[in-house]
Amino acid sequence: MNFEEINLNTLPKHIAIIMDGNGRWAKQRGKIRVRGHEAGAKAVRKTVEAAAKLDIEHLTLYAFSTENWNRPKSEITTLMSLLVRSLRRELERMTKHNIRLSAIGSLGKLPANVQQELEEVVKKTALNTGTHLTLAISYGAREEIKQAIVQISQKVKNNIIPVENIDETIINEHLYTQHLPDVDLLIRTSGEVRISNFLLWQIAYAELYFTDELWPEFDEQSLHQAIISYQKRERRFGKTSEQLT
Ligand code: FPP
Repeated sequence: MNFEEINLNTLPKHIAIIMDGNGRWAKQRGKIRVRGHEAGAKAVRKTVEAAAKLDIEHLTLYAFSTENWNRPKSEITTLMSLLVRSLRRELERMTKHNIRLSAIGSLGKLPANVQQELEEVVKKTALNTGTHLTLAISYGAREEIKQAIVQISQKVKNNIIPVENIDETIINEHLYTQHLPDVDLLIRTSGEVRISNFLLWQIAYAELYFTDELWPEFDEQSLHQAIISYQKRERRFGKTSEQLT
């Protein structure tokens, strides 16, 4: 048990996770990729509940990237139906654990039933005050930044925002994550050490944590381990160590 090692006063406010390795997990066991995604959905449940237990304010999970649309059609269909099933199944548990659900990404590109299911769970959990779970689905950071630039440019053109007023706050307000604080801790599983177009703007000062565990293996202990590692780091935000004390 590694729970005692966690300092409850310095928890990260916003944890984001790149859930990677479902396919490899399945392959290692001689199973088809879909089984890996199903096991991945169970790891999602465990991780969300572990975060809720710790009262982590925001948890953002990379469930499907804009690039994932290039996967074989059959895998996309399975992932979408797994998403719908999970949302339906988890609503009760989310309510029990006081979890609020949001979704970010090019949500209009999702099949209608996925959009409907998402809208419903978002609505039904909107008043929950515990951990705020955000699913990044059909999400790409460059697309997110591009659409922010388009929106801001239109407002400049229509004299709603003077160009000299554009600052980081205004940019934040036009991102999908306008309601979220910056990421404090970014976790990626499966041994890959890259960001893959996830929350590029929001991770500017995040602590990065990479683990060799494949996503279906990730559990409460793994989350605790990542938080313990985060708490050992000194976050300087560009300052010197001396200035922090
Ligand atoms: C990466 O593994 C995982 C995904 C592309 C999908 C993530 C989906 C889930 C965890 C399941 C459902 C989600 C929710 C929110 C219920 P990969 O397939 O890229 O693995 P590989 O790199 O080993 O092939």
